[in-house]
Amino acid sequence: MKIFDVPLTWFEKFASKWESDGVKFSVYTFVAILIGGLFELIPPFFLSRTVVPIETVKPFTPLELAGRDIYQKEGCNNCHTQMIRPFKWEVDRFDPQKAYGPDGYSKAGEHQYEHPFLWGSKRTGPDLAHESQIQPSADWQKRHLINPRETSPGSIMPAYPWLFEEDAVIDAKKLQNHIEGLMVLGVPYTKSDVDSVPLSVSGKTEGDALVAYLLRLGKDSAELAKAIK
Ligand code: HEC
Repeated sequence: MKIFDVPLTWFEKFASKWESDGVKFSVYTFVAILIGGLFELIPPFFLSRTVVPIETVKPFTPLELAGRDIYQKEGCNNCHTQMIRPFKWEVDRFDPQKAYGPDGYSKAGEHQYEHPFLWGSKRTGPDLAHESQIQPSADWQKRHLINPRETSPGSIMPAYPWLFEEDAVIDAKKLQNHIEGLMVLGVPYTKSDVDSVPLSVSGKTEGDALVAYLLRLGKDSAELAKAIK
């Protein structure tokens, strides 16, 4: 092919001009990147909010919040994401019941009360953003956590049987502190939520809390989908 033999004279001239003056070239690129950065950084300062709130999304109950702490403590987010990307195959897989219509991908508003968010970046296991729609049985969730091989033959997920043992109790005082901390960050909990903690976690194991949390994932946005239909 002829095209490869044609000397790119105009490009050679252009490149050698810039390459022969490295300092100038570096300064110009630095300035260009800086301007690009400013275009990205400045607009958000003038937006009153960047997340569109979803009305049906409510803060986690104390028990679910305790479960979320276990999820973080056990590092479940190292193997599971909680963010369905806006691609058909993702929505088909992680929202099989089509509870959300064609818009089954994750929205920022679903995570408005999460500090920190647990989107994750590694999928050794499936996405859990809408787990409550995929596996709504508390009994299944419990059996799976105690021994993943029992419900899912060949699973490589670790077993977490100790979470359901008698001494895996939830520290109510710590949970109350956590809720008060979230209130400071603007999560709309009230004093009565804080007071209700000891009662709502009494007699529950860490595993019960984790199951409650898993069964909450995606529930609020499903309510919204139903309301719209
Ligand atoms: C080493 C990676 C790994 C870790 C850590 C892990 N999982 Fe999994 N998880 C998997 C894999 C792989 C599957 C798919 C097979 C199965 O169902 O067991 C899975 C499946 C699941 C499912 C079923 C999802 C579905 O819709 O079928 C749930 C729920 C789940 N994991 C929750 C958890 C929780 C909660 C934790 C932390 C206590 C956790 N996982 C920790 C790898 C992991």
